[in-house]
Amino acid sequence: MEHDFWRERWELGQTGWHQDEAHATLVDRWPEFGVASDATVFVPLCGSSIDMAWLANHGHRVIGTELSDIAIREFFDAVGLEPSVRPAGDFTVFSAGPYELWRGDHFALGADALDDVVAVYDRASLVALPTEARRRYADHLAEVLPGGARSFLVTFVYDQSRMDGPPFSVTGREVEELFGDHFEVTKVADDDVTDRNAGLVARGAARVHEELHHLRRLP
Ligand SMILES: C[S@@+](CC[C@H](N)C(=O)[O-])C[C@H]1O[C@@H](n2cnc3c(N)ncnc32)[C@H](O)[C@@H]1O
Repeated sequence: MEHDFWRERWELGQTGWHQDEAHATLVDRWPEFGVASDATVFVPLCGSSIDMAWLANHGHRVIGTELSDIAIREFFDAVGLEPSVRPAGDFTVFSAGPYELWRGDHFALGADALDDVVAVYDRASLVALPTEARRRYADHLAEVLPGGARSFLVTFVYDQSRMDGPPFSVTGREVEELFGDHFEVTKVADDDVTDRNAGLVARGAARVHEELHHLRRLP
């Protein structure tokens, strides 16, 4: 999607993807993911996700990328911190406590920003992107993540002919196609989450599944 599309969503307050509580799959399944509690976690296309606070409350340092100033300000307001602001190339970095949120185009982020990253948390990020951008997103992650880095990737699967994204339907097969050359891919869960996604059902998606994949960047 174009940057203006997302900035406008934030300006108009049309952020239906945003959740007030940590995502259930993060809470239920992050512990078995086995990432050390002091590890740095990268949250691409982070919005103002409260999942970042859940990760920080479990000991992690959090790095995010986000286009919208509004999203970043709302996040720091929600966690009660006043960020310091510094320029870094094409980005402006907002930091406070365990959080470092890079405002700018995610795809411009270089590997040097992610030297310490041990894991990625992706909820509503890959699935926010249309087909070609998903390929770009996967290739970019392969390029910038350190070898051995892991990803906790949550996707939606539904009948794409019934509803337009975002969020887009991303099947396990597509995850394998996108990441399989550079990551070991393991599908960990496939749950029917139709009952928890009334908004998507109202838009036409009859049934919605959520899949969880664990990825590991090959050395
Ligand atoms: C569907 S939202 C999901 C946000 C978050 N992951 C969550 O679970 O709440 C996608 C977010 O990605 C941001 N975004 C989209 N394209 C981006 C880009 N190229 N660079 C940085 N952020 C981007 C949007 O502004 C939006 O906040």
